[in-house]
Amino acid sequence: MSTKSISNKTKVALVGFGTIGSGVARLLLAEGPRLARAAGIPIELAHVVDPDLKRPRNVTLPEGLLSNDLDRALGDPDVRVVIELIGGTGVAREVVLRALDAGKNVVTANKALVATHGPELFERARRVGRTIAFEAAVAGGLPVIATIGQSLTANRIESIEAILNGTCNFILTHMEQYGLDYADVLAEAQRLGYAEADPTLDVNGADATQKLAILAQMAFGATVDWRDIPRAGIDSIGLSDLLCAEMTGHRIRLIAAARRSPEGIELSVGPTLVPEDAPLADVQGAFNAVSIVGDMAGPIFLQGYGAGQNPTASAVVADVIDTIAGRTAITQAALELWSTPSREPATVRDPATIAGRFYLRVNVQKELDAAAQLSRVLAEHQTPVDSLTQYDDEDSQNLAGIVFLTGQTTEGRIAAAVQQMETLPFVHPEIVRCRVADA
Ligand code: HSE
Repeated sequence: MSTKSISNKTKVALVGFGTIGSGVARLLLAEGPRLARAAGIPIELAHVVDPDLKRPRNVTLPEGLLSNDLDRALGDPDVRVVIELIGGTGVAREVVLRALDAGKNVVTANKALVATHGPELFERARRVGRTIAFEAAVAGGLPVIATIGQSLTANRIESIEAILNGTCNFILTHMEQYGLDYADVLAEAQRLGYAEADPTLDVNGADATQKLAILAQMAFGATVDWRDIPRAGIDSIGLSDLLCAEMTGHRIRLIAAARRSPEGIELSVGPTLVPEDAPLADVQGAFNAVSIVGDMAGPIFLQGYGAGQNPTASAVVADVIDTIAGRTAITQAALELWSTPSREPATVRDPATIAGRFYLRVNVQKELDAAAQLSRVLAEHQTPVDSLTQYDDEDSQNLAGIVFLTGQTTEGRIAAAVQQMETLPFVHPEIVRCRVADA
């Protein structure tokens, strides 16, 4: 008869004890019995590792739990799950690889890490027979990874349109509601803790693009470097754009979009005019939302907090439970392309060929025929004009804004037209360009 003992609990180690780490530790410590029922076994927080042992946090750990000794945590044979909450792509990558090599499963909230080093990390996980769970990396507390990776696996996903950056949505909706300027609202978003340490990553669309790359991989098997996805931020959007959009029955949101087409997967991130009666137009403040269309399930709409201590901790701890219960292995199967190099990845469509309608705002030195000259440039690039509006600049008598809503054209044609417009002597930089979403 075997004398091997069966452990009556599962140990986890938490690496990175910042805002999210504190929320995760508090949840694991405070809700032990409930989490044990969900996981089928008690979960013990056995190690918390961070170089800063002194900083006050809003959770009190049992004596001896916090250390800066990563080796001790990774060397503990009873630890089954390592939670990586360091952030960034340098040390975090090393820690995840070391944890996998030590036989641990990994849970991470790190979208930059997954979007940048996903192929390497998932290949290593496959090789050592472990899983990496990352629900919290995309849209915080909103269960989009589980929805795509588990609940919709019988579907062919047709499209995803999403608001994936709470900071940008907070800025756009506060400008819209209170008539405030971009810079003032950004400062407020930073004060409330929504923005990244470097808020440029929020407002230039990089954060949303990293999250879209992860979703595109899961939903379409589209292996793409997030840096290759066409991206525009909200930093050039002014109050006048929000007003012009409103006049045509739209609201501006930073939309991350992925769509299946016969020519390949279309991917883009940028400010977009959304019809005011579309669910995404109603998403306010720091909320995230994801609209998914599956061929069997039809449209699905998820909305919730995409950032913050508690919503993110909710997703991280759910991943710990799913790892223990074996469910993350199912989600990881949806990512097989990252771990099986022999499979043919989905084609990503050349962005220049993606069709659509566009909003352009061109600031001009007042000239009699400025609008006509700009319209001619669009015509030269086979871009029809659906509507044209001109308004006087409030701050200068000599300046005007000319706003075009185009008919169907392509990204390539509009980019070439904008480039040509920028060479005209009466045009002031920079020309604001948004996609117009279908009604
Ligand atoms: N800075 C991000 C946002 C946090 O504003 O959505 C979550 O990734």
